[in-house]
Amino acid sequence: MSEQLKNSLEQAEQDGKFIRTIRSFVKREGRLTKGQACAIEENWSKMGLEHKNGLLDFTEIFGNSNDVILEIGFGMGKSLVEMAKNAPDKNFIGIEVHRPGVGACLGDAAEAGITNLRVFEHDAIEVLADCIADGSLAGLQLFFPDPWHKTRHHKRRIVQPAFAQNLRTKLKLGGVFHMATDWENYAEHMLEVMQVAEGYKNLSQENNYVPRPEFRPLTKFEQRGHRLGHGVWDLMFERIA
Ligand SMILES: C[S@@+](CC[C@H](N)C(=O)[O-])C[C@H]1O[C@@H](n2cnc3c(N)ncnc32)[C@H](O)[C@@H]1O
Repeated sequence: MSEQLKNSLEQAEQDGKFIRTIRSFVKREGRLTKGQACAIEENWSKMGLEHKNGLLDFTEIFGNSNDVILEIGFGMGKSLVEMAKNAPDKNFIGIEVHRPGVGACLGDAAEAGITNLRVFEHDAIEVLADCIADGSLAGLQLFFPDPWHKTRHHKRRIVQPAFAQNLRTKLKLGGVFHMATDWENYAEHMLEVMQVAEGYKNLSQENNYVPRPEFRPLTKFEQRGHRLGHGVWDLMFERIA
């Protein structure tokens, strides 16, 4: 590590800034199709948000003061676009690092003619820290996050105690953090983290999982899993303090 980098990391730590070295994703250089590239070119000025522009003013961005739901790691954006289409009285912000996914999402959103969706192509942790005001979100969703199967990679799982508290500061009181996973060991990990996370109430009556709510679209991948007898676990926690 260069002396200059070491000094700036030390300075940032002294200033109380959280230094993150472990990331929840590995940037895949997946090929951008022509359609995805066109979708980005045509729609970025309307739907794209830039991390470098800092804190967002939701009312200015959406032209209304409807509730805002933020999705972390939307993949190709299928379920995000469908949710935005089905809930025109809400606003949606999606964050994804995978450029082909951003292109696919923008293409589908434009085709569906929706106006209540905006998208970041950036690390969600940095977007949350720098662009989202505290106490501003009605909902946060994290669907099928990378499970990091191997035990030595569990530290890369995005759901961790500090992450749960970061998210809590971004939610309004009464706002809900909704997770879903098809990997049982990750579902158990999520539950362990969230059951002891300060300031949240589990919306499950049995203090574990909730049935998939109607508003979370059933993806093709999930339908296939159901046919093969695989489980999916939904968890919903409300900010209460
Ligand atoms: C397993 S995929 C699931 C995608 C989608 N939610 C679905 O249900 O199909 C997880 C996605 O999260 C994205 N991701 C992981 N960590 C992220 C982060 N810190 N910021 C933004 N996206 C992230 C990955 O690029 C990947 O596309």
